[in-house]
Amino acid sequence: MLEVKDLEVYYGAIHAVKGISLKVDDGQIVTLIGSNGAGKSTTLHTISGLIKPKSGSISFDGQELVGVPAHDIVGRGLVQVPEGRHVFSNMSVMENLDMGAYLRNDKDGIARDKEKVFELFPRLFERKGQMAGTLSGGEQQMLAMGRALMSRPRVLLLDEPSMGLAPLLVKEIFSIIKTINDEGTTVLLVEQNANMALSIADHAYVLETGRIVLSGTAAELAASEAVRKAYLGG
Ligand SMILES: Nc1ncnc2c1ncn2[C@@H]1O[C@H](COP(=O)(O)OP(=O)(O)O)[C@@H](O)[C@H]1O
Ligand SMILES: [Mg+2]
Repeated sequence: MLEVKDLEVYYGAIHAVKGISLKVDDGQIVTLIGSNGAGKSTTLHTISGLIKPKSGSISFDGQELVGVPAHDIVGRGLVQVPEGRHVFSNMSVMENLDMGAYLRNDKDGIARDKEKVFELFPRLFERKGQMAGTLSGGEQQMLAMGRALMSRPRVLLLDEPSMGLAPLLVKEIFSIIKTINDEGTTVLLVEQNANMALSIADHAYVLETGRIVLSGTAAELAASEAVRKAYLGG
């Protein structure tokens, strides 16, 4: 469904992504794990069209995405939830969700999807009139995910959804990611929390300083000595 080949990305002289290739099949959860600075966000931003790669290709349903404007990429169904959430602080929960549907004009479909988002995140329903900036970190993560779902993604790109959240909330967020996937959305999940990511993913790639150093099924990587030592606390 999504295939990245030999991706090279620079920030000026900084070589952030050094020849990454990866695949995401329809219906899967694929995770990209690695420590801070490994190039995870850069890879997602490049897929989303926010950064232009120096070389390499990104194909989605057989069509090249490199050079396609970011809003067209969203329109094709690849939607990113950025690291650090970035909800619209001065808008209500409801208004944030409406912003997620800005490319759509099917009123009934939008209303149905909003109901689905509230089923997934009952807390957002309880706070639907509240300003997003006053939500807790976990609630803002839920809102950022809900907003992305309002654009009916075929592939949801999640950048460190667990960052800064208490363990119980992390569990809750990951269980919701699993539900979203079970309901038919493909997920590309970037995480430093390798344990949690591997627990819900089908396939995984380990990124180190801009390169993929290991890949396999999530079960294989969770069992791998090298991954256990470097990322899973032994
Ligand atoms: N806007 C930027 N300008 C210059 N260097 C950047 C920028 N964003 C990221 N980098 C560098 O690129 C590398 C990869 O960063 P990033 O993709 O954010 O990693 P990760 O998401 O895995 O933590 C790091 O060395 C980082 O310092
Ligand atoms: Mg990052």
